Amino acid sequence: MMDFLEDVFLTQNDISDRVKSLGKEITNDYKDKNLLLVSILKGSILFLSDLMREIKINNCEVDFMCVSSYVGTKSGGTIKVLKDLNTDISNSDVLIVEDIIESGYTLNYVSKIINDKNPKSLKICALLDKPECHKLDVKADYRGFEVPNKFVIGYGMDYNEKYRNLPFIGILNRRYI
Ligand code: IMP
Ligand code: MG
Repeated sequence: MMDFLEDVFLTQNDISDRVKSLGKEITNDYKDKNLLLVSILKGSILFLSDLMREIKINNCEVDFMCVSSYVGTKSGGTIKVLKDLNTDISNSDVLIVEDIIESGYTLNYVSKIINDKNPKSLKICALLDKPECHKLDVKADYRGFEVPNKFVIGYGMDYNEKYRNLPFIGILNRRYI
């Protein structure tokens, strides 16, 4: 085991099986819609790139928002929009693609910003969810896995900007926090 890891939580196979079935569900639900995937940078990039390949519809577009709220393993509380959407989404069925829900503050904030732009519909797809940590009532319409109250890294997710490139999802060793 690499010394920064306490454990491997999800292997590449676990992730790809689940992403395939999420892709099938989304394909089915959005067949007759104008799907716009809104990926929240930077944590969701690997999830987005695998998920979009499993969405087998032609009417599928992608855009990005970038928000920041974390330093180390603790939420700073204040969320900053570093990059907003800049196209008209009034004709789009928006699906937010996020890596993980912890307190729910990030998704709550991002959902409000997107809702103010009056999309045709708005739903949330989160790869991971830490239900024990919710502080707001945020629910993912599509959810990959539940996670215990531990800090996870890899598959896009970072600890101080490192480890995003791990192809699996691991639990960060407490000695590093
Ligand atoms: P929330 O606003 O507390 O729900 O936090 C959501 C954001 O915090 C996610 O988009 C992640 O970028 C980050 N985050 C929350 N938990 C973890 C974790 O265990 N590992 C890495 N990033 C995390
Ligand atoms: Mg994130």
